This record gives sequence, structure tokens and C-alpha cells, in this order.
Amino acid sequence: MYTEFLSFPRDFAWGTATASYQIEGAVNEDGRGKSIWDTFSHIKGNTADGETGDIACDHYRRYQEDVRLMRGLGIKNYRCSIAWPRIIPSGNGASSRCGVSGNVNQKGLDFYDRLFDGCLENGITPWVTLFHWDLPQTLQDKGGFANRDCAGYFCDYTDKVTSHFGDRIKNWITINEPWVYSFCGHLYGVHAPGVRDTGAALSVAHNVLLAHGMSLPIIRKNVPGAKAGIANNIAWVESAGSRQEDTEAAKRWDMAFNRWFTDPLFGKGYPEEMVRWYGKNMPGIKDGDFDHIACPMDFLAVNYYTRRLVAHDETDSHIKAKQVYRPHIQRQEFEEWENFPEGLYRALVDIKERYGDIPVYITENGASCHDKISGDGCVHDPARVEYLRRHFAAAWQAIKDGCDLRGYFVWSLYDNLEWGFGFTKRFGFVYIDRENNLKRIVKDSGHFIASVYEKNGFTVD
Ligand code: FCB
Repeated sequence: MYTEFLSFPRDFAWGTATASYQIEGAVNEDGRGKSIWDTFSHIKGNTADGETGDIACDHYRRYQEDVRLMRGLGIKNYRCSIAWPRIIPSGNGASSRCGVSGNVNQKGLDFYDRLFDGCLENGITPWVTLFHWDLPQTLQDKGGFANRDCAGYFCDYTDKVTSHFGDRIKNWITINEPWVYSFCGHLYGVHAPGVRDTGAALSVAHNVLLAHGMSLPIIRKNVPGAKAGIANNIAWVESAGSRQEDTEAAKRWDMAFNRWFTDPLFGKGYPEEMVRWYGKNMPGIKDGDFDHIACPMDFLAVNYYTRRLVAHDETDSHIKAKQVYRPHIQRQEFEEWENFPEGLYRALVDIKERYGDIPVYITENGASCHDKISGDGCVHDPARVEYLRRHFAAAWQAIKDGCDLRGYFVWSLYDNLEWGFGFTKRFGFVYIDRENNLKRIVKDSGHFIASVYEKNGFTVD
């Protein structure tokens, strides 16, 4: 049988990713303020089984064990996020940018000092996301990101964090998935803060992009040798049918989901056709906004999970489009998430064609499966191994075809609080045994990842 070893470039950054609210727990510890996810998850009906991040994976207390776990698996790059309300519990930085004073919580800084130093001592490079959705509740009380001032608050927070950690931490991701934050949180209402309003979602989207762009010069000022970018979620979008109205709906979906958030980063503004579509729901845009948003980045980070098949839907009040699910298609436990590695390849090529030679990192990719501890005490997750193998191969092909892909972070280190889905979705390559003191058990996929990372590639038939 013919086999081939798919080898990745030297210096390719293999890693894994997590987010503060999904793993840390210890929500009332050491002066942490409340976040919008604390508020949201504690409202009955908002999360599966009423689960919250109060304990999550207890990473706040068990971070040393977790760092050792990563080291044991040979993980060299760890993307995690800082909880804004641990650093500035009241949300506000003391600065002229917003004119409100707020205190930095030293104990919050101390925790991340311990974590990051622990990573570095173990040969693990931290990649830090500044905002993975846990906005301080006090800022939500002032309108959250629907209020343009929030971009200024974010800059203050960025200033505090990057001036403190900038001597050691060089890789920064400003915002995680602006589409999910703005639309799931402010149009569909399924994420915190649970708002349902198109105009609000578009304002949030704009202000989040603004916050990203305005924070880049601050990061560069504070961090010698910084590498900074944003993490956009991308989906490969295709029309579910050959009718013209379906093709048009798919095009709108692509513009609203992908291009709305990436075009302006590269100086192209918002897609014209969608600006017309949104009409009176368009956010207030000031002169100079697009210059801030297009502040050059060192890389574009992308989170990829699936393809979206889209058809026209007259009843959809947003863009008259809906996703179509075909029963025969192989998918993840997430009902709507089709396994479609080719979409990753195409999306990477599309980025190169559309935006030129920007270095790209895949900062999230992974699969949710029905994992169980089997009789031998192990967790066998062949579907996840297969998912990853096929997506790694798609990434390899994209590099071969000229994409400047520099790294790959598998979501996620371990099973964690999957937002509104609570603990019902397991994405980890390490199992968390919720019946047994949150014991960590490396799944088969964890061993597979360890071997790929060690060899910087893998064999395919
Ligand atoms: C992404 C999020 C991440 C996780 C994965 C499954 O949209 O960034 O926190 O929930 O999906």
C-alpha cells in the first residue's frame, strides 16, 4: 500500500487553545469581578442543565497540573485568554481615553504571572487572547460593546495587560470571533448578554472591530517584538441548491458571516451589498474608523469548524437565509456542524486570494464527540482522531499550494463549558471526568496529537 508522510514546515506552531470562562472556575476568587457570562449563565434556561462556569475545569486552582499535562503531551504553544474582570474588576481602566478610573487587581495579574511563567519554564509559549467574551458586567451596565466607549475601555485594559506581560508574552490575539460575540450575543440572544436586536448586533460588531484596531498600536508600544492579530471564525459557505435565490442567500451569508469581519481589516470596508441590505440598521460609523480597523496586523488568526450549506428563507428577518442540514452528511455531535475538511483548505486559499500574503494561524479547530470512559479506563475517540487527521491534511495541502499558514491550535485542551451547551459537548482531547473530581484523562486523540506534534507531521495512506 502507498503511504506518504505529510511533513509540516520547520517552526510550524502546533498548539492547543482554551478560553478563561470555559475553564477557570473560581469566579469569586481573589477579587475577580463579575462578567456577563456569570450573569447570563445564572439565568434559568440560558444554558443546558443550568450549568455555569463557577467551577468549570477548576483550572484556576489546578493550572500547574494542566501545564504539566501539556508538557507531557509535548505541546509547545498554548493559546488561552485573560479574564478581563480578573484584571480590572470594575471594567474601567484609569485613563484619559475613557475618563473613568478603575483599579487593577494585582491578584488577577499574579494568577496569570504564575500561569505564564509556569508555561515558559515548561517550554510552552503562551498565545494570549485579550477578549474571549467575558466582558465585565459593569461595562455591560453601560451598554457593553453596543456603546462605542467600550472600545476605549478595551484599550485601557489592553494597555494594563500588555505593559505588564509584554516582557514575556509576544503573541497577542485581540478579540475572539467577533461574529459570534456580536451576533450570537446580540441578535440570536443565545450567548451573553442575551440581546436580540439587529441594530445592536451591528453596533457591537463595529465597536469590537474598532477596539481591535485601536488596541494594536498599544500592544506594539508595550511589547517589544510583538506579533498581534484577531481571531475570526470562518466558515466555508455554499449554496444548498441551484436556484438563483439560494445562490444569492449563500452569498449574503458569506458576506455577513465572513467578509463583514475580514474585509475591513484589510482596508476594504464593509461589503457594499450588505451595507445596502442592512440599511437603517447600520451602525454609526465615524471618519477614521476604517483606518483604525485596518491597522496592519502581523497575522490573521482563523477558527474553522465547518461548512454552511445555505438556502433562501423568506422568514429570516436578518438576511433571509437559513442553513440546510442534509441527513446523510457526516457531522459532529453539534448537529449542524458538518465534517468538511475541504472547507478549511478552500477558506485558506480564499484568504490568500482575497487578502494577499498575510501569515495565517488556525487558532481553533476541533470536534465534539460522545466520549465515554471505557472498561479499560481509556477514552477512545476515533471520530475525533479522524476529524483531526483530515483537517491536518487539508492544512498541509493549503501550505503546499502556497498559503502562508504558520500554526495550528486544536480546540481544545480538555472538555470544558461549551457556553450555552453547558457540559453537554465535549471538545477536549483530554477528558474531564465530572463524576470523579474533574480528573483529566488523555483521550486517544490526545496521544494522536502528541505524536503528530512530535514528528511535525503524520503518515497517510
Ligand atoms: C468557538 C469558540 C470556542 C469554543 C468553540 C467550540 O466558536 O471560540 O470558545 O466554544 O467554538
